[in-house]
Amino acid sequence: MGAAGIASAVTARPVSAAASPATSLEARPGTARLAPAEYKPTPIWGYDGGVPGPTIRVRQGERLDRVFLNNLPQPSTIHWHGIRIDNAMDGVPELTQSAVPPGGSFDYGFTLPDAGTYWYHPHNRTWEQLARGLYGALIVEEAEGPDVDRDEVLLIDDWRLTETAEIAEDFGAMHDWSHGGRIGNWITVNGNGYWSSEARQNDRLRLRLINASNARIFSLSLKGLSGWVVALDGQPLAVPETAGQLVVAPAQRVDLIVDVTADAGTEASLVSHERGGSYAAAVYRVGQATADRRTEAPGPLPANPLTMPGPLTTARSVDLVMDGGAMGGMRSAVLNGQDTDIRTLVRQGKAWAFNGQAEMTDTPLLSARTGETIRIRMDNRTRWPHAMHLHGHHFRQVLDEERMGPLRDTLLMQSGETTEIAFVADNPGNWLLHCHMVEHSAAGMMTWLRVG
Ligand code: C2O
Ligand code: CU
Repeated sequence: MGAAGIASAVTARPVSAAASPATSLEARPGTARLAPAEYKPTPIWGYDGGVPGPTIRVRQGERLDRVFLNNLPQPSTIHWHGIRIDNAMDGVPELTQSAVPPGGSFDYGFTLPDAGTYWYHPHNRTWEQLARGLYGALIVEEAEGPDVDRDEVLLIDDWRLTETAEIAEDFGAMHDWSHGGRIGNWITVNGNGYWSSEARQNDRLRLRLINASNARIFSLSLKGLSGWVVALDGQPLAVPETAGQLVVAPAQRVDLIVDVTADAGTEASLVSHERGGSYAAAVYRVGQATADRRTEAPGPLPANPLTMPGPLTTARSVDLVMDGGAMGGMRSAVLNGQDTDIRTLVRQGKAWAFNGQAEMTDTPLLSARTGETIRIRMDNRTRWPHAMHLHGHHFRQVLDEERMGPLRDTLLMQSGETTEIAFVADNPGNWLLHCHMVEHSAAGMMTWLRVG
């Protein structure tokens, strides 16, 4: 794959800088060349009309201000995924703001405490709006970044396209909602099914992988590139790890620093492993080296100013039991305040439950004092994996009483797995905890915490 003609045709995005001033971000219909040139451009919804939306780059500690203009035919919001944000700016309808109606606007403005790779997307009818192309990268730059020849965002998405390369409109399909979510049939990187670029042998690249798909878990590997994972979900690893097989769940990010090891005249690639085989999702055409390969491994990225969880033995602990889905044997759950049998639930678009609730409750899963260390024990009793995302905080997976995993904002849990996360609830407000397979959260896998 990676035909040069297709690649150059697709990079011309229908973004008109003149139409919207730099301080606005407009959600509106547009078109994108997701598929090869023999197809018509695909009608999409995008920020500033393109997919992905504009990559926003801000320096750590600075402020970001954007007037969100909604020119979609339905209400929307923007959620700034992974940012330890002011709660009022978190973009969650009913919990932190009202959804912005068609023709309306909302002023988002907040500071960015942590450097790293983040992204933005709607939080209203996300199963439809994300699938139609509403997302973009939000990059918060370190005061002093690593020594690389290039810093590149690779937003990976999974689309369900019809035979005429239009987005399949079966957004509410209950079969998807009760199974693995909306899995597509066309994968793009930066809105291009044949994304490619140039690099030179021995170049050192920083690659920022972002999984923007509704529900697909990507399994990726590198070919002709070799290097290290330096950050997960925006947060630096204390010690960079050799990059091998990379499993990237919906909403997760992986920052890599890689050296181009492929010979000049060949291709280096990011390989996606699917059920039907493996193929290059992103390709670098490799040119002549202009320098020797670096021999030194990159040091860790500078740590962000987060408070690490305190002693776990005294931390408050809460349980979250995850039930439901196809083959899960859930018989009933609470909906509209009433115990409701599974048939009725499904008719109302619900298929999953957290602690027996198939809907957001008026009372939070937990109320924390600001600064308190919290443990959440999550028990996945379903037959499906889930990508559990906490808003406004990063957490660590508790491996045992002594060891904790890296900071993350989204954790992939396997079917049948029980695990625990711990974090300092130091960001006041109302924060969602949900599965980021967005059909699952719409169908019941959503709860919230109150801090402060
Ligand atoms: Cu990126 Cu509540 O999500
Ligand atoms: Cu899920």
